[in-house]
Amino acid sequence: MNGHAFRTVLWSAAFAILIAQFVRPNHSNPAVSGDLLAPPVVKDALERACYDCHSNQTRWPWYSAVAPFSWWIHHEVEQGRRRMNFSSWTDYTSDPGTEDQKLDEVARLIANGAMPPWYYLAMHPGARLTPGERIAITRWIAGEKSSHTSSSMR
Ligand code: HEC
Repeated sequence: MNGHAFRTVLWSAAFAILIAQFVRPNHSNPAVSGDLLAPPVVKDALERACYDCHSNQTRWPWYSAVAPFSWWIHHEVEQGRRRMNFSSWTDYTSDPGTEDQKLDEVARLIANGAMPPWYYLAMHPGARLTPGERIAITRWIAGEKSSHTSSSMR
């Protein structure tokens, strides 16, 4: 490629990135309808490590306004909220079977380190759960689930 062709490619790429900025996903936070209730240690840890993608209280970072990251981040948050949303947790607690299922998934994904996702931790090192927080969350989940078992035996 000669110098002229190379500059043309660079300018086209720059132009494409510029135009991409006009395609803006809607980074809104819908209303919180029934937030999770949990002991402060558990709640704080989940808020710090999970709420950006699994609640309606997303803290959108500045780069979430820059295409193409904006499209990707928007997609992650949309998927995360759809699969599990702490802001409408009462939808799950109204049916203990559903809440138990979500709690099992949370315990499993925290234990195997799949959540929060590695790319999120790379951008938010402070979101890493401490060993103490993992234990607190695991205990809380076990307690929640056994309280459902005992109430359904009544
Ligand atoms: C960067 C965004 C992000 C963060 C932060 C995040 N998640 Fe997720 N999570 C996702 C996405 C996206 C999915 C859907 C994954 C898929 O469909 O493959 C998901 C799926 C899940 C699921 C599966 C839900 C179901 O029942 O299908 C659980 C449980 C979960 N995450 C728990 C957590 C927990 C607990 C934390 C915090 C410790 C967390 N996540 C932090 C993005 C995130």
